[in-house]
Amino acid sequence: MRIITIALQKGGTGKSTTAHALGQGLQNQGFKVLFVDLDPQGNLSSTMAAEAGESNAFDVLTKKTTAKEATQQTAQGSIIPSSPQLSGADLEITQTGKEYRLKEALRPIQNQYDFCIIDTPPALGTLTINALTAATEVIIPVQADTYSIQGITQLYSTIVAVKEYCNPDLKVQGILITRYNNRAILSRDLADIIDSTAKQLGTKLFKTTIREGIAVKEAQARREPLYRYAPNSNPAQDYQDFIVEYLQDKKGER
Ligand SMILES: Nc1ncnc2c1ncn2[C@@H]1O[C@H](COP(=O)(O)OP(=O)(O)O)[C@@H](O)[C@H]1O
Ligand SMILES: [Mg+2]
Repeated sequence: MRIITIALQKGGTGKSTTAHALGQGLQNQGFKVLFVDLDPQGNLSSTMAAEAGESNAFDVLTKKTTAKEATQQTAQGSIIPSSPQLSGADLEITQTGKEYRLKEALRPIQNQYDFCIIDTPPALGTLTINALTAATEVIIPVQADTYSIQGITQLYSTIVAVKEYCNPDLKVQGILITRYNNRAILSRDLADIIDSTAKQLGTKLFKTTIREGIAVKEAQARREPLYRYAPNSNPAQDYQDFIVEYLQDKKGER
C-alpha cells in the first residue's frame, strides 16, 4: 500500500480538494483506496458524506478502536473519518511513541488497499507528524502566493526531522500548484519562485497545475466527486492529468 500524505500547514491551499480528487481518480482507475481524514474540520469526511458519530480517526489514534473498525464504507469509498476531538490531539496524545500511532494502526490493513490518502490539518502538530510518519510519500499542494511559499520551507524542516527520527524512507513526491489563475501575471512569477524553492529543497514542482474553477466548490457543496459533477471542468481535467503524471513517477526515484 502506498500511503500518500497531503500536507501544508496553511489553510485553503487545496489539501482536502487534492486528497479527494486524487483518491477518487485512483478509485476510478480500479485501485482500492482508503481515505483518512486527520483534520478536525472534517472537510474531506463531509465531501464524502461520512456519518458523524461512528468511530473515527481520533479513536484510532487513541487506540480505542482499530483502523478496520473505524473505516466507513460510503457511496464514494472507504474512509476513516475525522472527529472534532482531533483538535485536542496535541494535548491528549502525549505518550512516548505518539508519532507512530497512525503508522501502527494502518499496518494490519496494508494489504487491503493499493493507496491510502491522508488529509491533514493546517498545522504542524501531532496529527501532521503522525501522517508524515505513516506515509511512504508526501504531496505539498500550494496556492501561488507568498504565504504558501514561506509555508513550504517550514514544512520542509519538519519533513527533514520526521525523516531523521521517525520515517527515513519518506519521499517528498512534489509540490502541486492548485487554484491557479493563469491570467494573473503575479501568479506566474510566483510559480517560478515555487519551482526554484522546490529545486532548492531537493524535490520538484509537478508539471501539471490545477486551475481554478467554480465546479470545485459546487461539487463539494453537493457532496459529489468532481469528476461526476463536472468532468469537463478545468480542475477536473487538471486533476486527471495530475494523476497520470503522478503514476508515472516511480516510487523511490527521489
Ligand atoms: N481548483 C480549485 N478551484 C476553485 N476552488 C478551489 C479549488 N481548489 C480548492 N478550492 C476551494 O478553495 C477552498 C480551500 O480548499 P481546500 O481543499 O479546502 O484547502 P485546504 O484543505 O488546504 O484548507 C475550498 O473552499 C475549496 O472549495
Ligand atoms: Mg482541508
